[in-house]
Amino acid sequence: MLSRDDVFTELGIGPVWRLRETPASPHTPDASPPYTWDTLTDAVAHCTACKLSATRTRGVLGVGDRNADWLIIGEAPGVEEDTQGEPFVGPAGKLLDAMLASIGLTRRDNVYITNVVKSHPPGNRDPEPDEVAACRPYLLAQIALIQPRLILALGRFAAQSLLDTHEAIGSLRGRVHAFQGVPLVASYHPAYLLRKPTDKARAWEDLCLARRTFNSLTPDSGPLSL
Ligand code: URA
Repeated sequence: MLSRDDVFTELGIGPVWRLRETPASPHTPDASPPYTWDTLTDAVAHCTACKLSATRTRGVLGVGDRNADWLIIGEAPGVEEDTQGEPFVGPAGKLLDAMLASIGLTRRDNVYITNVVKSHPPGNRDPEPDEVAACRPYLLAQIALIQPRLILALGRFAAQSLLDTHEAIGSLRGRVHAFQGVPLVASYHPAYLLRKPTDKARAWEDLCLARRTFNSLTPDSGPLSL
């Protein structure tokens, strides 16, 4: 049985993770200014840092438990999310809820859901590099405030952008990475799974990997046999 420190070392877990048990520091070195939830909410609502602000209805910061252990990160708000101001509320969101339920989680309890980019890209196109860069301080601030124990990156875009790679999602999934010192598991985007249900079995494997990883890092998280 690996000790917690062995697992930290194995996964290359860095400072944010190790700070989990110290008082929350609401900033990270490259997220400026240091945000509180109030200033972050306000900043995203009024953000004009990229061209998406001209076409979006509202900035979509995220939803869920601000003290969550699990942070789910998608790509960007779709049309319905842009209207309602909450991530993953469309058909992909319904599937995400079912995926979370399959490993004993719900979107408001110990889970926080957000996107790499907080504004809806017109026509659901991929966010562009300058748009990802403009939103990065917001994502880093969310991670510093939440201090999640595990990140689940949903879809090619989120996984590639968080891991700064062009590797295919098919090869990124199935292993544990790290982002900002937090263990990260990548899987298929629920919208993709709606188009290709035969890959749901692989997504289930990824969810089991995420759950196992989480359980190995948090002895008090309660066993869930998968
Ligand atoms: N797809 C995403 O990646 N995020 C959302 O919030 C909705 C759909």
